[in-house]
Amino acid sequence: MTTTLTTTLRVYDEKHPETLLIDTSDGERIADELRAIGVRFERWAADAQLPKGADQQTVIDAYRSSIDKLLAECGYGTMDVVRIERGTPNTEPMRKKFLDEHQHSEDEVRFFVEGRGAFYLHVNGRVYQTVCVKGDLISVPAGTKHWFDMGSDPEFTAIRLFNNQEGWVANFTGDAIASGFPKLD
Ligand SMILES: [Fe+2]
Repeated sequence: MTTTLTTTLRVYDEKHPETLLIDTSDGERIADELRAIGVRFERWAADAQLPKGADQQTVIDAYRSSIDKLLAECGYGTMDVVRIERGTPNTEPMRKKFLDEHQHSEDEVRFFVEGRGAFYLHVNGRVYQTVCVKGDLISVPAGTKHWFDMGSDPEFTAIRLFNNQEGWVANFTGDAIASGFPKLD
């Protein structure tokens, strides 16, 4: 099965998951809507062909110039790579880990270089479901309530940038809001 990789933004009222306020796949509109809530969103080139089984270093080497630019520009101190290939067994626990609403004391910065994943940002009484695909850079500011869905058969590679990797722990809000909204698939 091939999944069409299209960035989408769907915005809901926090109390009305059944009603879409915004539904767009226009990249500029998505960036504008997210900028308005303090979230950086940009489309970067992500054309490297990563071999099956590519390890972290292979991904880093392929995207060295973009990574260096981001590290220099944003002052992030460290980075790593998370990569899940289609068909990886037993991904459900990984998926569940970030499927409930949480916050971090660090920015959550992700540069997707393969596949896709959905961030749900809970800001100002709204939920912004942002499906990020290969080439998308998103920075969720520290303290923003959010959750993340990698889907039932995940496939993505994301370069993660940190100010302080140790500080990047999920503080769960205890709000069950995520369960009321559509999943990635
Ligand atoms: Fe998170």
